Amino acid sequence: MEAHSSFYHRRLAPLLLLCFCTLLVQAHASRKKLYIAYLGERKHGHPDDVVASHHDTLASVLESKQDSLDSIIYSYKHGFSGFAAMLTEEQAQQLADLPEVISVQPSRRYQTTTTRSWDFLGLNLNDKVPSELLRRSRYGEDTIIGIIDTGIWPESRSFSDDGYGPVPSRWKGVCQVGVGWDRSNCSRKIIGARFYHAGVAEEELKNEYLSARDANGHGTHTASAAVGSVVEAASFHGLAAGTARGGAPRARIAVYKSVWGSGRGAGAGSSATVLAAIDDAIHDGVDVLSLSLVVEENSFGALHAVQKGITVVYAAGNSGPAPQVVRNTAPWVITVAASKIDRSFPTAITLGNEQCIVGQSLYYERRNSSGSTFRLLADGGLCTADALNGTDVRGKIVLCVAFPVSPLALFPLALKNVLDGGGSGIIFAQYSMNVLDATADCKGIPCVLVDFDTANQIGTYMVDASSPVAKIEPARTVTGAEALAPTVAAFSSRGPSINYPEVIKPDIAAPGVSILAAKEDEYALGSGTSMATPHVAGIVALLKALHPNWSPATLKSAIMTTASVTDGRGMPILAQGLPRKIADPFDYGGGQINPNKAAEPGLVYDIDPSGYNKFIGCTFKKFISCNKTMLPGYHLNLPSIAIPDLRHPITVLRTVTNVGEVDAVYHAEIQSPPGVKVDVEPSVLSFNAANKVMTFQVKLSPLWRLQGDYTFGSLTWQNGQKTVRIPIAARIIIHDFFADVA
Ligand SMILES: *[C@@H]1O[C@H](CO)[C@@H](O)[C@H](O)[C@H]1NC(C)=O
Ligand SMILES: *[C@@H]1O[C@H](CO)[C@@H](O)[C@H](O)[C@H]1NC(C)=O
Ligand SMILES: *[C@@H]1O[C@H](CO)[C@@H](O)[C@H](O)[C@H]1NC(C)=O
Ligand SMILES: *[C@@H]1O[C@H](CO)[C@@H](O)[C@H](O)[C@H]1NC(C)=O
Repeated sequence: MEAHSSFYHRRLAPLLLLCFCTLLVQAHASRKKLYIAYLGERKHGHPDDVVASHHDTLASVLESKQDSLDSIIYSYKHGFSGFAAMLTEEQAQQLADLPEVISVQPSRRYQTTTTRSWDFLGLNLNDKVPSELLRRSRYGEDTIIGIIDTGIWPESRSFSDDGYGPVPSRWKGVCQVGVGWDRSNCSRKIIGARFYHAGVAEEELKNEYLSARDANGHGTHTASAAVGSVVEAASFHGLAAGTARGGAPRARIAVYKSVWGSGRGAGAGSSATVLAAIDDAIHDGVDVLSLSLVVEENSFGALHAVQKGITVVYAAGNSGPAPQVVRNTAPWVITVAASKIDRSFPTAITLGNEQCIVGQSLYYERRNSSGSTFRLLADGGLCTADALNGTDVRGKIVLCVAFPVSPLALFPLALKNVLDGGGSGIIFAQYSMNVLDATADCKGIPCVLVDFDTANQIGTYMVDASSPVAKIEPARTVTGAEALAPTVAAFSSRGPSINYPEVIKPDIAAPGVSILAAKEDEYALGSGTSMATPHVAGIVALLKALHPNWSPATLKSAIMTTASVTDGRGMPILAQGLPRKIADPFDYGGGQINPNKAAEPGLVYDIDPSGYNKFIGCTFKKFISCNKTMLPGYHLNLPSIAIPDLRHPITVLRTVTNVGEVDAVYHAEIQSPPGVKVDVEPSVLSFNAANKVMTFQVKLSPLWRLQGDYTFGSLTWQNGQKTVRIPIAARIIIHDFFADVA
């Protein structure tokens, strides 16, 4: 599957989120639908007893035990208790009424959402001076990352197990054989493989391997970005060339194939298959779970994983730059935004008047090409079928101007029309929306992105010249300080979270634009929060190798409080969008991930995993009433503070644990959100051997009487060496039912 094509597919249907494999609706025949019953913690000792109890539970609402056996598609029995079954709505309701059943909800569909990126993050691999973190964590060796995705291509050089020690003895997973996958496909690198296709529609399985082998490409790309072994001289046709590797290049991979469909834009997975994967992953003993998928909220599977000490990393989604569209926002997971790294692909366009103009493309020279030549230019306007009707574009370079329409929606149409008309190239004028990956799909003709100003210069030349011509050179790769970076990618989904407005989401930004990673035996560029997510999972694996006892909350805190909010020059990080602006916490949470700093964060905001139960709210409960006594989420000890309804002064408590030098004195530095007074008490924290954990109050008081919007600030604890920063978002509210749609 071509990453970019589904990227656009998703754009055209903005509610179908995420990335490279856009998963389509799986049709359910008849009135029965797939439901998931959740029974909470598993109570029985043996998994077989748990399964038997599921059959008893369901049999009590169905006609017979046999009906129950036939209906249940998955029994979740390791990490938590529950099952997926085909039921009518009435049966689902009856099931929900049983006292032992916590919730019953329809199974939801899932949508899936690296060379340079690691050097950019400061995790350089140079053998003489490898980064501190890489060296000290032994490249993540002996941490296990579970990838829940479309499977994996085990022959890729990125998954070579050369020089690996034995599989960690605590590993309890399996190597499930299937079509195109035998036991030899598991190795010391790919230590586990499972697949889940029950409940997936026949047509989705048509061009698939009934095994963990990846027919789609998405899972191979994400796995290699997280834990790919070091591969020298990887590139996309010479572009973005370098050493490809994952963030934790020696970590082990456990593959859980839960998403199906090899076709372009096709694919299917559901809450049922993904929960089955999470349940097994808890049993198998993974350390980190990476999910480049967009799922409906209320993922109790992730909650149980976190309560078992597994860090769960999810993609934020690709529906940005619109606000309120971030997904996968449960407070116990890490929600990842995508940023652009310091790499660009300048492409020279020479006009017939010798004027040289530079755009960007992934245009590469083909082996049998006769070199760049001047070709006639044609004005294609919008380059829709209508706009090109009557224009002969054969052999010409066509100027397409995406104004005033979205370049994301227009580019694939323009490309198709120009290719169908026999055109030899496209100069595509647009505002910045990270369209670049899509130009890899140009079938060897140059597709160059330019801005409106550049298009205007070309247009002026075309009017003046009697037969205007242009020549396009293959792209070059430029990295380093010349490229403005990082910036939050335009497509990266923005907060606030609809399900958890009392929690700042996303949590963190990581590289997710034009990332080079494995695709079958080759390497391909891909963009999306799908690409950013495995970057964070890889970094968590390194941190976990270094600090095996850190909880998921501590790992998240270390990542968030050390993130960067400025670039290498000290300029605020920008967020691409309409218009481009200075990034705020709803764009990137704590900021751009900084792995070396995350290794030694000084102070951490930890959370006892059972504490989440008090904040779960109503999101699990489809059919039963909510617990109204639940605490607002801003009382959770998260490394962020979000108050969506600030009417009166609100005081929240936070507790920090010193994981740095034993004797340390930290001072609070407050940046109040405009319109809000923030007081921290005490404002000095003194740690010593006896005082490792300290609690402080943060009081937020509205200063304005304003039916408002969010404003942002931060609280930073400093001791001269460490900087422990958390973002603050607050919205002053006077009237209820405020809708921000003016
Ligand atoms: C995986 O197994 C297939 C047979 O099912 C075999 O042809 C292939 O070489 C194996 N690949 C690896 C990397 O072991
Ligand atoms: C170049 O090679 C490709 C296939 O490798 C072929 O489709 C194309 O026609 C060739 N072009 C020229 C100009 O020979
Ligand atoms: C092109 O325009 C002509 C004249 O307006 C119209 O008859 C024809 O159907 C159009 N063709 C397409 C493919 O839209
Ligand atoms: C509702 O939440 C409160 C506060 O956390 C808790 O004490 C109580 O047990 C909960 N009730 C139910 C029915 O879960």
